[in-house]
Amino acid sequence: MRRIAVVAMFVLVVGVAAFYARGGGDAKPLPGEPLRAAAKSRGIELGTAVRGDVLATNRAYRQIVAAQFSTVTPENEMKWALVEPDRGDLEFGPADDIVKRARDAGQKIRGHTLVWHAQLPGWLNDLGAGELRQATREHIRAVVEHFSEQVGVWDVVNEPITDRGGLRRSVFLRRLGEGYIEDAFRTARTADADAKLYINEIGAEGIGPKSNRLYEVVRGLKARGAPIDGVGFQAHSNLDGLPGDFVANMQRFKALGLDVAITEADVALKLPASEADLRAQAGVYTRIVRACEAVRCASLTFWGFTDGRSWIPETQPGQGAATLLDGDLRPKPAFGAVQAALGG
Ligand code: G3I
Repeated sequence: MRRIAVVAMFVLVVGVAAFYARGGGDAKPLPGEPLRAAAKSRGIELGTAVRGDVLATNRAYRQIVAAQFSTVTPENEMKWALVEPDRGDLEFGPADDIVKRARDAGQKIRGHTLVWHAQLPGWLNDLGAGELRQATREHIRAVVEHFSEQVGVWDVVNEPITDRGGLRRSVFLRRLGEGYIEDAFRTARTADADAKLYINEIGAEGIGPKSNRLYEVVRGLKARGAPIDGVGFQAHSNLDGLPGDFVANMQRFKALGLDVAITEADVALKLPASEADLRAQAGVYTRIVRACEAVRCASLTFWGFTDGRSWIPETQPGQGAATLLDGDLRPKPAFGAVQAALGG
């Protein structure tokens, strides 16, 4: 009898452990109106970056993504190195999985990203100018066509400007010259007549050398009739907040007849974060929402929603706690602040 009880207990413990190891637990309900509903009543698409591996294995993470956000951006799964690790060998599985889950949850998808200097496959470096131009066009066409039914917005060119206002000396600029940007937009348009095509930039929120150069690039594209529809401001931030002229900066891009979106917002803190830091962070999030509303942004996307899955501590030692929920998916002051700013 005692032996049976011991075996039963063992089976139970192993079962529960396996359940949680697979991420099988439900999410604790978050208080108040879901963010996506509050945002909808304000006419804002509210999004988050997602990690495909976590989405597939962690049920609580998945539930929160579905309940709280109306649009998702694959954080890495559509990037060149992952989609085309060998030339012409297209691997869409992980991105397809995110897209399917998003569709099931009634969400839109931001495609991220087609031409960027980072997360490139090694084989690109071996190509001369002609081959690189060809491979870039083939890549854009293949990816955009594959997702044309599901992805309505693409970050076509990502981070082409340096902080000092030059063009970033990526492999594309060095081999193909500045025209690679326009070529990327024209190629994307041939692959999808309807998708919104964006240029997406980091650290260009305030008016200054970087955003001024971005403005010149975008104005040039428009003047030449290139098919660009929008400008994404990533809005990675910290307790310094975003520059006071963020709204004015976005307005001048809008005045060119473009959509503007906030595409990767987060607010990094020095670790360990104090209660005061968390409250100050909530204030920065409030201002990000207000900035988006002030320009009638096309969408507001956070770069992840839980501190347990955020690029900040992974790449910036000593920094973190940048998102709306803590590592256990519990709401931080920033969550309530975003909800309140959206009127929820
Ligand atoms: O998938 C591999 C895994 O197999 C391996 O074991 C592990 C070991 O380091 O690395 C994993 O790949 C990492 C990948 O994220 C997935 O987690 C890469 O090393 C890591 O470099 C990569 O970082 C991403 C980063 O872009 C790359 O530059 C971040 O997750 C992602 O959040 C970040 O996103 C960028 C936007 O695309 C553009 N704007 C800036 C933003 C933040 O850097």
